[in-house]
Amino acid sequence: MTYLDNAATSFPKPEGVYEALDRFARHSLANPGRSGHKMALESEHALTDARHRLNRFFAGRNPDRWAFTLNGTDALNMAFKGVLNPGDHVITTDLEHNSVSRPLVALAEAKRISLTRIPADSGGTIDPDAIRKAITSQTKLIALTHASNVLGTVQPVEEVGRIARERDLIFLVDAAQSAGVLPIDVQACCIDLLAMPGHKSLLGPTGTGALYVGPRVNLRPWREGGTGGDSLTPTQPTDFPFHLEGGTPNVLGVTGLVAGLDFVESRGVDAIRKHEVELCDKLRAALSELPGFEVFGHADTNRRVGVISFRCEILPAPELAGLLDQSFDIAVRPGLHCAPYIHKALGTAPDGLVRVSPGPFNTQTDIDHLIDALKQITGGM
Ligand code: ALA
Repeated sequence: MTYLDNAATSFPKPEGVYEALDRFARHSLANPGRSGHKMALESEHALTDARHRLNRFFAGRNPDRWAFTLNGTDALNMAFKGVLNPGDHVITTDLEHNSVSRPLVALAEAKRISLTRIPADSGGTIDPDAIRKAITSQTKLIALTHASNVLGTVQPVEEVGRIARERDLIFLVDAAQSAGVLPIDVQACCIDLLAMPGHKSLLGPTGTGALYVGPRVNLRPWREGGTGGDSLTPTQPTDFPFHLEGGTPNVLGVTGLVAGLDFVESRGVDAIRKHEVELCDKLRAALSELPGFEVFGHADTNRRVGVISFRCEILPAPELAGLLDQSFDIAVRPGLHCAPYIHKALGTAPDGLVRVSPGPFNTQTDIDHLIDALKQITGGM
């Protein structure tokens, strides 16, 4: 199979991830922080080490402010439900994935918060000034994706972070499509809450994710339960990270995530992004020569991560992707990509677009294979 669906989850993982998972599962997979025996301590140490690694990679203030989650959605829910209070106003954007928009819309429909959604420009970027103008005396939080999962467009998080800090607002960044391919410095960008999956460009396994909680934010725990310590405390301990981590953590997944991070650090985020964007550009150039294809999002390479979405005038996206899969063994993601507002704004709902998202292990040959397949499909019609 030619796998070009890395924005959904990265595949394959680096060899080191498979090795780390196998080694840890065979030798160290005790319950971290519980029991106190050697293997439990080793398991706990793996989690602590992972918090340090993430904190260093994203320039956080304190490793203990990293909570492990099931995925990006889990981290976002933990953030929204832990920080928002009745009467708060939240600013978000048309670019958001349902993992951001659904929890916020549900809170708004329950009349607990009010919500303003800022439109993107036609190329898929948010204007920081539009965010500034939407701030009211009730505004508590700005929630912005770092890179669109539909268009790959990179958002101005530094500027928006500055605005949030000037107005003493909490700034949440959804790094689902950027963690591992764009440098992120949470302190320099004034990011208070950074949510991410571990299984996309950080190259870890599914079932992993993390939420960074900066020092300006105190979250109510969304998931309560055993933490391995403080057993006499009747409610969730207040010390981080246990405040946010009830229940046995996915320590096996986290060791895979650290191995993914090893790969990312050794190759370098800039090199990985450059490689993925070059493959997208090759496809973009080919599609511009083929009749009947329309590519969406800014063409400027510096404003994108390695995601490209297009439509074909003779075949709806789901059918085109189905043919690529069934007849050519090429995996892409068609449809609305769980991001309905941007598709409505682009006029691409309900069929959506075909999204191609290369990863670090894809090659020019994979893109040639896709281009040939598209030529065969459309040439035969
Ligand atoms: N959020 C993932 C995507 O964009 C699953 O495909």
